[in-house]
Amino acid sequence: MRTRREFLITAGRLGLGAAGVAAVGSRPRESVAAGAPRTIRLEAREVKWELAPGKTIKAMAYNGEVPGPAIRAREGERLRVVLKNSLAEPTTIHWHGVDVPNPMDGVPGVTQKPVQPGETFVYEFEARPAGTRWYHTHFDEHRQMDLGLAAPLIIEATAKEPTSYDREVTLVLDDWAAGTGRPVPPTDAGTAGARGSAGGMMGGMMSGGRMGGMMGGRGMGGMMGGGRGMGGTTRDETEPAYDVMTINGKAYPATEPLRVKNGERVRLRVINASAEHTHVLRLAGHRLHVTHTDGNPLQAPVEVDALPIAPAERYDVVVVANRPGAWFLHCTEPGHVEAGERMLVVYEGHARPTPPDPEPGIAGLRLWDYGRGRGRSILPEATGESRASVLTLSGGMMGSEIWTINGKRYPDTDPIACRKGDRVRITLRNMSMEAHPMHLHGQSFRLLAANGIRYGEPLVKDVVDVEAHMGSAVIELTAHNDGDWFFHCHKPMHMMGGMIALLRVK
Ligand code: C2O
Ligand code: CU
Repeated sequence: MRTRREFLITAGRLGLGAAGVAAVGSRPRESVAAGAPRTIRLEAREVKWELAPGKTIKAMAYNGEVPGPAIRAREGERLRVVLKNSLAEPTTIHWHGVDVPNPMDGVPGVTQKPVQPGETFVYEFEARPAGTRWYHTHFDEHRQMDLGLAAPLIIEATAKEPTSYDREVTLVLDDWAAGTGRPVPPTDAGTAGARGSAGGMMGGMMSGGRMGGMMGGRGMGGMMGGGRGMGGTTRDETEPAYDVMTINGKAYPATEPLRVKNGERVRLRVINASAEHTHVLRLAGHRLHVTHTDGNPLQAPVEVDALPIAPAERYDVVVVANRPGAWFLHCTEPGHVEAGERMLVVYEGHARPTPPDPEPGIAGLRLWDYGRGRGRSILPEATGESRASVLTLSGGMMGSEIWTINGKRYPDTDPIACRKGDRVRITLRNMSMEAHPMHLHGQSFRLLAANGIRYGEPLVKDVVDVEAHMGSAVIELTAHNDGDWFFHCHKPMHMMGGMIALLRVK
């Protein structure tokens, strides 16, 4: 076992920005006094970022890094994050998966005013619950998140972790519209639900056919300009053509190799920061032991060959390094490897670091899906009333970017109102042709069912990917954090197209 300090250094080497991580993460453990916040400084500004040799883009970054510097905190630690906006436009930060107080949630027009160019905003909150969380812009996400304003927020558990490991590495997956290559097909069907094993393949097959539609100019332009409460300015509403896929801000061959020792157990914290794509992660020659869903521990690890991960989802997996050689860690979705989504995993002392090419497809592979995991009951018990709502997700008709909940677009959608302590059950039905990774701010939920299959020991998550073509999901939460919370599709195009409801906890 290595010390935590060594973890930080290792993480830094993996493209997460040694400087940022060191400045942010390394301090004597003993000095974490209850109540005294630790100050972290983030500056959002434009940078030139090299995704791969010959593919340099104008990006937006926190502290000049893509993804931004990983913040590491101990569960319960008070953080004071000073955001300086050096962009030419407003911005905010949302702490995704963290139970922050409502005014710290980073939603412009709902929980705070947008932070104007040149201004500073101070976020202060306790880092909890433990797990793989992340932070990202919540202003004009369709542009700002696509340009790089996202980063890991790792909250270390004070309780013992369910699975032992020797060290850990964080991987941020992202998609880019860099205009340098051939666009990758969009993900359609959703891959993570109960129909998951077929989903990955379906997503791939179907998307080929949809390319024409997408390229032929989606978006009904002016129909959804700014002023819908999301602080938008006029923008081009056509779905971007994603052509580059990165791991920690780099596309292969620029991805940083991961060097492992024989016998080592490596914990990977995987964050999908993509706007549009589900990734299906695989490490050739190895299996992945899934231990956490959106940062929350399972009762026991689940062994799979490949891991579908929808936008905004996080999974922690342990890899047992027991097949010396050189391998590719890569995505099995069509076109993603070609777009750069692969990295070398090389065993120490292995002379020839040229692995076999990644195998395309998922035929014969055991894939993760929601039905495989058994969650722990870690959420607070309800003390109030039980409530239930049904939300029908629709939109995207004839290639439009109008997305609705029960036929309405935010801010016209009906809020889900409850009191603190209530048990709130939400049934989601997807009547559209695309999957919707629905994310709730401010509190996590139990996933009771997906696609008609009930789960006895629900996963705890903050994103549920509701599959296309009549996919469904039932979630339940204990409303323990008061305020107005966004519940929305995490594909920014869909969110900005109206697929947002408020959870109003009084
Ligand atoms: Cu990760 Cu409202 O978002
Ligand atoms: Cu959506």
